[in-house]
Amino acid sequence: LAASASQGQTAGAPVAETSAAQTVTILYGSQTGNGRGVAQALAAKAQAQGYTVNLTSMGEYNVRQLKQETLLLLVVSTHGEGEAPDDAIELHKFLASKRAPKLENLHYSVLALGDSSYEFFCQTGKDFDARLSALGAKALLPLVECDVDYEDAAAQWQDSVIEAAKPHIQTSSASVTAIGTTATAGQSQYTKQNPYSAEVLVSQKITGRDSDRDVRHVEIDLGESGLTYQVGDALGVWFSNNEALVDEVISGLGLDADETVTVSKESYSLKAALTDKKELTQLYPGLVKSWAELSGSAELAAICEDKEQTRQFILSNQLADLIAAYPANVSATQLVEMLRPLTPRLYSIASSQAEVESEVHLTVALVEDERQGHARFGGASHFLASAEEGQQVNVYVEPNNHFRLPENPQTPVIMVGPGTGVAPFRAFMQQRVADGVSGNSWLFFGNPHFEQDFLYQVEWQQYLKNGDLSRLDVAFSRDQAHKVYVQHRIAEQAETLWQWLQNGAHVYICGDAERMAKDVHQALVNIAVEQGGLSADDAEAYFETLRSEKRYQKDVY
Ligand code: 2AM
Repeated sequence: LAASASQGQTAGAPVAETSAAQTVTILYGSQTGNGRGVAQALAAKAQAQGYTVNLTSMGEYNVRQLKQETLLLLVVSTHGEGEAPDDAIELHKFLASKRAPKLENLHYSVLALGDSSYEFFCQTGKDFDARLSALGAKALLPLVECDVDYEDAAAQWQDSVIEAAKPHIQTSSASVTAIGTTATAGQSQYTKQNPYSAEVLVSQKITGRDSDRDVRHVEIDLGESGLTYQVGDALGVWFSNNEALVDEVISGLGLDADETVTVSKESYSLKAALTDKKELTQLYPGLVKSWAELSGSAELAAICEDKEQTRQFILSNQLADLIAAYPANVSATQLVEMLRPLTPRLYSIASSQAEVESEVHLTVALVEDERQGHARFGGASHFLASAEEGQQVNVYVEPNNHFRLPENPQTPVIMVGPGTGVAPFRAFMQQRVADGVSGNSWLFFGNPHFEQDFLYQVEWQQYLKNGDLSRLDVAFSRDQAHKVYVQHRIAEQAETLWQWLQNGAHVYICGDAERMAKDVHQALVNIAVEQGGLSADDAEAYFETLRSEKRYQKDVY
């Protein structure tokens, strides 16, 4: 990665001698990289207008700088139940605290990214907008809230906000541009919008024959792409919808596969558009609502009245199920306009280039379900699981600076990765071994059955034997009458684990966000209470401090 220079110093470029009055500060906070992408595009447009731009992740922004800013543009996403992304937490807290300064000289605009299938849609963006306004800053534009198909709205906001900022900024064609952390992994020409067509080398089932789960180990060749990644990064994977599913949708609506439709001003056959351009495997509330109207179904209309019911419906149905259960008269054009654009999926990378060179490995759980005699699959996982050796797949690297090994390789690491959450820890171990670091590492792994679901068992045992991995604690949840989960193993090891923390260990959690990561967090807090003698509040604060020191990192989904 190129040197980061969040306060306006880029190696080789002179420091901007401009006062803040001439600088546009663009801050982004995002878990998946979408926010960074939008912020980077805004920065490029602003530069093209002759503005001096300081583009920085919120996580690397010095909050004390805030009172000097005159023009601040924010892009921020929201996660789970209205939570701020990791890199935005500090600024979010600061603005809500008594320490926040008056910002009467500031003009600002917020672009909020979110997912309308969640209750607290765009909450973090709303919070930023409200706090800045309460501190006396003036909004250049009303808050813009974007749903998962944010691209068009984001592009429009970029143009509008640059227009609206014009009266408040001095431009100069000679202005020095000081861009902060714009470094993208690999400095490769390949990006989300311009992915690399890579070759699938291996797609192999690694759960047992009798397992309830189908987990694949996938190896992809980055070839001569120049794409590089660091351990902790994710791989963005574009996919095509399955042909049988596309055919089912088309015939279910009685449409003609060859009919011409328009997507983003380009013409495609209906079949091609549904295969490569449109999202078929994930519903969204707006679509269910439109379908309730088109089908005239009172049942569906009732579901749409209730947020939780809508959420559940979306989790357990796809477009093809809607078509089968609620017949409607829909034209090809209507259909294509209603569907969201296909978006790539992110997978935590399970390898280190120090070990696998130009390859990238993934651990992919095949999402599968059965409804009314039809198998239903997750779009990308099915694509990867059914990929033949030699098949092409469009990929790009999505850096994740919030999931990094400690700078000092001797610092102990505690890794909690049940299920496919173990993926980045395979990468961590490969990296540590390549760096000649041994010991000081502890893995907690969990899955239903020892016999069927012990992902990468042979590798962990080898690492243990060689002393590369100091400890391995496993929780096979269904091998006994009562459930045993990773957090139970963590609780059993309270005393040792607390010692590791006292010795400066970093803690990493990867996997399920909704339940596992929360339960594991609670188990850790309990340890700080029991072993450290802290109050519950102080124990929370302890992990909050670890988080801000980058000693407590999560990659959860
Ligand atoms: P289960 O499916 O038997 O309930 C990976 O998915 C593993 O995580 C499985 O063994 C699963 O157990 C377990 N798991 C389910 N809920 C969990 C939770 N809240 N915390 C930790 N692990 C959990």
